[in-house]
Amino acid sequence: MTINQQQILTPFDIGQVRLVNRLAVAPMTRISASAEGVASQRQVDYYERFAKGGFGLTITEGIYTDQKFSQGYLFQPGITDLEQSQAWHAVTNAVHKHDGKIFAQLMHAGALSQGNRFSQGTAGPSAVTPKGEQMGFYYGNGQYPIPRVMTEEDIADAIDGFAKSAARAIEISGFDGVEIHGANGYLLDQFLTDFSNHRTDKWGGDVRSRVRLILEVYKAVRNAVGSATVGVRISQGKVNDFFHKWAEGEAGAEAVFGSLADAGVDFIHLTEFEAWKPAFVDAGDSLVKLAHRYAPNQAIISNGGLHQVDHIEEVLNDGADVIALGKGALANPDFPQRFANGAPLIEFDPSILGPIADIKDKELV
Ligand SMILES: Cc1cc2nc3c(=O)[nH]c(=O)nc-3n(C[C@H](O)[C@H](O)[C@H](O)COP(=O)(O)O)c2cc1C
Repeated sequence: MTINQQQILTPFDIGQVRLVNRLAVAPMTRISASAEGVASQRQVDYYERFAKGGFGLTITEGIYTDQKFSQGYLFQPGITDLEQSQAWHAVTNAVHKHDGKIFAQLMHAGALSQGNRFSQGTAGPSAVTPKGEQMGFYYGNGQYPIPRVMTEEDIADAIDGFAKSAARAIEISGFDGVEIHGANGYLLDQFLTDFSNHRTDKWGGDVRSRVRLILEVYKAVRNAVGSATVGVRISQGKVNDFFHKWAEGEAGAEAVFGSLADAGVDFIHLTEFEAWKPAFVDAGDSLVKLAHRYAPNQAIISNGGLHQVDHIEEVLNDGADVIALGKGALANPDFPQRFANGAPLIEFDPSILGPIADIKDKELV
């Protein structure tokens, strides 16, 4: 193990929170809550395994934030009322028992919603049919509908949903922090992306206007949670447009990361298909390096293909502080222990996510 690799087993302070190491579980939607969005015992057991296996930080699956347009999937958990918020307490308790920390990922699906028990139809920045097709393993099928164009009131409701959910996450559910889901093609990323945002008001236009909603959500969340740890997840690729690149290239990165830095977020969580690769062209800086350049005082979580451990060193050298694993953690819920002992890693078995991506019995043994 190299010195840099050893570094990921050392503690790290992210905002107000001390992690026992720099290995995190990436957020993964597993649609295993009740139909009413209440977190289940199955989820408690699932999340506990990661903390027991040594992960310093677990980031939950995307949790919906309001009873309007935010829910994306049937059986997705929410944090919109007392019952949903209290149910998460069993999850946070289970993680805390093993010295793990856990952040709630707050998510508004926007135009990519495939299942919402509160509203008919979807809502997004502009009346643009999303690229791609709905995900079968989350009970979707066929094209995404054209979203209704969000009014000022819809936008205010969405912001308020994030803020109130963040407060519930900290005060009722016992989470150690929150991650605002600004990535992967969901509502906040729809506003950030030129393809899906054709607005001519203050929420659309150049990248500094398109990032505005993320910043407004951050401000509202910060006001709601005081000094608790708050960060934002950012990506170029999307669940429905895997290879999307920011139209403005590095200038876009400067605008996005610079404004997050100015806003004072505690961390930026970056996800790319392969985190160590150049962000825009065949040669050039990774997104991690660009984020570190334009947001030098923010902690950086790096995600994407990093179960290929040889590449961990590259993203650490580029400025990452915490390494988040998705599929690598599903295959190895005890990844940190394996890594520390030099034990072999188990390869990810995609059948775990089929035909429906709910948590399987074999993951809980
Ligand atoms: C089943 C599954 C569900 C996911 N759900 C979410 C989610 O709810 N929120 C999110 O930000 N990313 C989600 N992701 C993306 C992962 O967090 C991660 O970015 C992706 O798996 C790439 O990282 P990896 O190469 O370590 O797996 C999901 C990924 C998978 C495989």
